[in-house]
Amino acid sequence: MQYGARIAVIGAGPSGLYAAAALLASGQPVGVEVLDRLPAPYGLVRYGVAPDHTKMKSVIRVLQKPFGPVEFLGGVQVGEDGIPLDVLREHFHAIVHATGSSVDRCLGVPGEELAGSHGSGAFVSWYCGHPDHIGLSPRLDHPGVVVVGAGNVALDVARVLAKSAEELTGTDVPDAVLDALRGSAVRDVHVLIRRGPQHVRFTPAELRQLGELAHADVLVHDDGLLAAGVEELEDRRQRQNLAMLVEWAASRKPTGKSRRVHLRLLRSPVRLLGTDGRVSGVVIERNTVDADGRVVGTGELETLDAGLVVRAIGYDAEPVAGLPFDERTGTVPNVGGRVVRDGVPVPGAYVTGWIKRGPSGVIGTNKSDAAETVAALLADLPDLTAPAHPQPAALRAALLAHGIHPVDWTAWLRLDAEEIRLGGERGAERLKVADLAAMLAAAHGAQVSP
Ligand SMILES: Cc1cc2nc3c(=O)[nH]c(=O)nc-3n(C[C@H](O)[C@H](O)[C@H](O)COP(=O)(O)OP(=O)(O)OC[C@H]3O[C@@H](n4cnc5c(N)ncnc54)[C@H](O)[C@@H]3O)c2cc1C
Ligand SMILES: NC(=O)c1ccc[n+]([C@@H]2O[C@H](COP(=O)([O-])OP(=O)(O)OC[C@H]3O[C@@H](n4cnc5c(N)ncnc54)[C@H](OP(=O)(O)O)[C@@H]3O)[C@@H](O)[C@H]2O)c1
Repeated sequence: MQYGARIAVIGAGPSGLYAAAALLASGQPVGVEVLDRLPAPYGLVRYGVAPDHTKMKSVIRVLQKPFGPVEFLGGVQVGEDGIPLDVLREHFHAIVHATGSSVDRCLGVPGEELAGSHGSGAFVSWYCGHPDHIGLSPRLDHPGVVVVGAGNVALDVARVLAKSAEELTGTDVPDAVLDALRGSAVRDVHVLIRRGPQHVRFTPAELRQLGELAHADVLVHDDGLLAAGVEELEDRRQRQNLAMLVEWAASRKPTGKSRRVHLRLLRSPVRLLGTDGRVSGVVIERNTVDADGRVVGTGELETLDAGLVVRAIGYDAEPVAGLPFDERTGTVPNVGGRVVRDGVPVPGAYVTGWIKRGPSGVIGTNKSDAAETVAALLADLPDLTAPAHPQPAALRAALLAHGIHPVDWTAWLRLDAEEIRLGGERGAERLKVADLAAMLAAAHGAQVSP
């Protein structure tokens, strides 16, 4: 084979980059190209991990390692409005889909469509400077905010809203986001946890961080449940969460800090209230949990004053045109990373990361996940059909024919350097360039304004 097997990885998030690294490390004669719809790599590490989690973001040093031998083709949307999958298939022996889960799930309650009601995907993308969401302009002119969910994303959102702009100045958030947070009138952030303290999905380190906020008191609203004693839990992380919640419920009182984060256990939103088309409050219901851990509403209602609602209740993947999709799980059906249609493998099609297993797991989880997929692909390698156009130049021509001018690794490094330069002006390690045109200009070597 003149070029060895050519493999495309679609998505430059953790799973795609772990897959690229595993392919490279295999020692097999494979040429790997990583395509991403954005001019910047790293997926949710760049656009999801909270800006104040700077240590976590340093995983980028590991993720970038394959580039060089592995090519980066940024700004390449695969599918609608980009390069169709069918066209891409003519250039590669195999395609690893690593496009994540970017669709916000809905609560399915009345009023969800009101202005000021956002999914965490959109809201987090806004404060992380994602080019698709710079125009979100969340309503921060109201003292009350409701965050729905009991996972780490809910905690990230609550923490960012409870911090002062000064606490985030040293992070990579765009200036516009910092300005919005500086003008924030938010005082009370209500986190709605639909089940009990034994069911929260927080990482204890994230929960602990919430309790250490400089400008916000954390208050646990548990209807006396924790004082009455909750069964001992087997899982260590759940035990740690529970211990913290028990201690906070007993000891944390308002100390006069300017903001408060309310952890409201056994509460669900049943309706968002609106004034002039905007969220003005949330009707919530007290729940109980049955023996199987299922939520049962009690019919007891109260209303929280809120100008902003963020639902952090998980994500679905965007279906990939040309591949099967399981609407129930929001994933592409697969066996060990091999895409299957009606139980039969689709030749040359693989998945890894959130689109493979659903929207759960930390960055590191994607490493073993990608290893499994790559092992399947390498086992199939001898039987993969050679593509019609295996030459790299043919792919470039096909992209150009679709009006796509990819941002290569060198161009990304220019954008990277520009963000670091802009960060230096603010005393931060980096300042994200969020405007797509400005990102592309910086990738071509221009200095841009923050
Ligand atoms: C808000 C949030 C915060 C998180 N914080 C942490 C944390 O602090 N620590 C931690 O360990 N884990 C964290 N996680 C989990 C972690 O980010 C995920 O496990 C991981 O990013 C999933 O990797 P992925 O590669 O499957 O998807 P993603 O990271 O989403 O990457 C998918 C990539 O595919 C690209 N793409 C999508 N569609 C297309 C297309 N059609 N064509 C081309 N490219 C496309 C996207 O642009 C993106 O770059 C967080 C998750 C979220 C949602
Ligand atoms: N620092 C970090 O390590 C970090 C930071 C952010 C994210 N992550 C990871 O990224 C993944 C995704 O995080 P996530 O927070 O989006 O998801 P998650 O951990 O799955 O949490 C989702 C939460 O939403 C709740 N929920 C779902 N549907 C609901 C509804 N209709 N009404 C009310 N609540 C509802 C769930 O409650 P039930 O349990 O009752 O279903 C759950 O508490 C996780 O694996 C997480 O650990 C890690």
